[in-house]
Amino acid sequence: MAFGRKIYEELEGYTPGEQPKEPGVIKLNTNENPYPPSPRVLEALQALSADNARRYPDPVAAPLRRVCAEIYGLPGEEWLIAGNGMDELLALVLRAFVDPGDTVLALYPTYSLYEVLCRIHDCQLRYIDADENWQPPESFYEEKARLCFLTRPNAPTGLALDRALVEKFCTNFPGIVVIDEAYVDFADDHCMDFPERFENVIVMRTFSKSYSLAGLRIGIAAANPALIREFMKIKDSYNMNAWSQEAALAAVQDQEYMHQSAERVRKTRKHLREQLLDLGFTVHPSQTNFLLAHWAGTPSAAEIFETLRRDHHILVRYFNHRRLDNALRITIGTDEECAALVHALQRIIGDRG
Ligand SMILES: Cc1ncc(COP(=O)(O)O)c(C=O)c1O
Repeated sequence: MAFGRKIYEELEGYTPGEQPKEPGVIKLNTNENPYPPSPRVLEALQALSADNARRYPDPVAAPLRRVCAEIYGLPGEEWLIAGNGMDELLALVLRAFVDPGDTVLALYPTYSLYEVLCRIHDCQLRYIDADENWQPPESFYEEKARLCFLTRPNAPTGLALDRALVEKFCTNFPGIVVIDEAYVDFADDHCMDFPERFENVIVMRTFSKSYSLAGLRIGIAAANPALIREFMKIKDSYNMNAWSQEAALAAVQDQEYMHQSAERVRKTRKHLREQLLDLGFTVHPSQTNFLLAHWAGTPSAAEIFETLRRDHHILVRYFNHRRLDNALRITIGTDEECAALVHALQRIIGDRG
C-alpha cells in the first residue's frame, strides 16, 4: 500500500470477538453482561434533548469524575480521567508516558490489545511468561521498563494476582504500573487504594462489564493528579459524548443494582464451573465474568468452538495463541444460556472427556 506507514506494513490490528447480525445466537464470546443496565440509565438517556446533541459535551466529564471519586474513596475529581471506553485510556497511557522504542512489560497471557497498542505506538512489548500455575515468576518483581500492564483479575485466565504481590511489584517497579481492573466488580478485592499510595500507579476501570454499558464506551482511570494532568494534555478535547456521560453517571449512582447484577453472574459462574469440571474440562476458579476452560480430549478445543458455532449457534472465544489454543474462554451468560451451552457440550464431547 503506497500511502501506508512502513511501521504498520505487518500490523494486523486487534481482532474483536464476533458480533452476530442474526437473532437467536447465544453470545458468550466478548465478556458482555447478560443483564441490562440499571433502569436509571435509560431514564437518564430519555431525559436528554436535542440540545444535548446540538451542543458539545462537557470536555472533562466533571460530574462523572466527581461522583466516581466519592464512590472510589479518592480525594477528588482531579484524581480521575474518563474516556471513550477503557481501550481509549490504554492507548492514551502509552502516548502520555512511553516514548517510541521504549520497553513495555506485561505478563503472558493477558489482554491481547496491549500488544496491538504497543505496535501502533512503535514501542516494544516484552512478555514475561506466567508459570504453570499462571503466576508471575520471581524475576518479574525485579523487572525494569517504562510501563507495565498488570491485568487484575487477568484476562483470559480469570485469576487475580495476590494483592500483596501487586504491592511488591508496584514498590519495586521504576516505571508506570497500569492496573487494569476491567473485571474487578466480579472479584473478591481491588486496588483502588493504590493511586494514593504509589505515585506510579494508574488503576483503570470500564463500564462495559459490571455496568452492562459496553455499547456506550465508557472507561475511567485513577491516578495521582500529576499523572492525570499528563493525560488531560493529550486527550481529544471532547473524548466522551454527552450520552455516555449521562449514562455512566446514572449507572455509577446505582451501586446496589450493579452489585446485584455482578452477584447473579458470580452465582452462575460457580455453577457453570462445576458443570464444566464434570465434563472433563480443567477450569481455574475465576474472579471475572468468564471462565477459561482447558480441554485435553477429542475433539480439540478448536473443533468444539467451531461445532458450537455452526451447529448450536453458541459463540464462545477461541484464541489460536500459545498456551491458549487448547482452551475455550466462556463468558458467563444467563442461567438459561449456560444450560444451553452445557447441553451442547454434552452432545459434542459425549463421554469422551
Ligand atoms: C482486560 C480488559 N481491559 C480492558 C477492556 C476494554 O474495556 P472497554 O470496553 O471499556 O474498552 C477489556 C474488554 O474486554 C478487557 O478485557
